[in-house]
Amino acid sequence: MKLKSRHLLGLEGMAGDELKLILDTAESFREIIERPIKKVPTLRGMTVLNLFYEPSTRTRISFELAEKRLSADTINFSKSMSSVTKGETLKDTVQNIEALKINMIVIRHSSSGVPYYLTQCTDSNIINAGDGRHEHPTQALLDMFTIRRKYGRLDGLRVVLIGDIKHSRVVRSNIWGLKAMGASVAVCGPSTLLPYEVEKFGVDIYTDLDKAMDGADVVNIMRIQLERQQAGLFPSMREYTNLFGVTRDRLRLLNKNYTIMHPGPINRGVEVTSDVADSKSSVILEQVTNGQAVRMAILYLLSGKKREEGE
Ligand code: CP
Repeated sequence: MKLKSRHLLGLEGMAGDELKLILDTAESFREIIERPIKKVPTLRGMTVLNLFYEPSTRTRISFELAEKRLSADTINFSKSMSSVTKGETLKDTVQNIEALKINMIVIRHSSSGVPYYLTQCTDSNIINAGDGRHEHPTQALLDMFTIRRKYGRLDGLRVVLIGDIKHSRVVRSNIWGLKAMGASVAVCGPSTLLPYEVEKFGVDIYTDLDKAMDGADVVNIMRIQLERQQAGLFPSMREYTNLFGVTRDRLRLLNKNYTIMHPGPINRGVEVTSDVADSKSSVILEQVTNGQAVRMAILYLLSGKKREEGE
């Protein structure tokens, strides 16, 4: 089986069998990153451009390492050190780099739709590493991979996405992916941080955190995205933390064997307390490790390359 598209722009509309293919493929790459020599020749001869127009720690490093472990050549574009500072457009930037013969582009951008735009003006495979509020598909895939590794399944699990739902691309990708895999999904946040027409997402909606957490298996906590907000969406950080912060006391509401997740970066003491973020039920650092395997799987599946014997 193959993925239907040669690009990964988002999880909306992706069928369960395609998601399963990605997660199953990531499982075999997860084994490779535990080996003493974490390198296979799968993408030898291919060149990947990491085009990050927005800051990133986890996604950028994870993609770069995934590319290197697959033996691809990598180019890391830094906006502040590029001719973008002299007024060069995104299209000119990409087409000039593509003239150097690259094969794939990993793009992060503050504007929704930029990955799709690149599919219209380049020949490379495009991978969305987060576009505005739209989607962050590899983050949701690594979240799903992490949950599936722990419980052996996604279907029937209750997953609650908590916090700044309105501005979160991670939430949108998680909703599409988890629903396609049969999970029961809920969102919870202040009404000012729920998106317009949130009902259309087909998930349960809460503005009361205790009710949302009651009976959940997984809580995935979102960061307050101050960089994408206008002022005044909630009265104060202190009030937000009182009403929507995930604290140790609230964990009693969850099902036994519950899991705490966060895509990072964490605002410690705001959306989650440190004792919860660092507790034994937290898989926050495992999410980061698993992200590398998921990104290796995506790069491999989109490249159309075959794996060699023994990889
Ligand atoms: N989760 C995530 O996208 O983190 P970065 O912004 O550090 O890449």
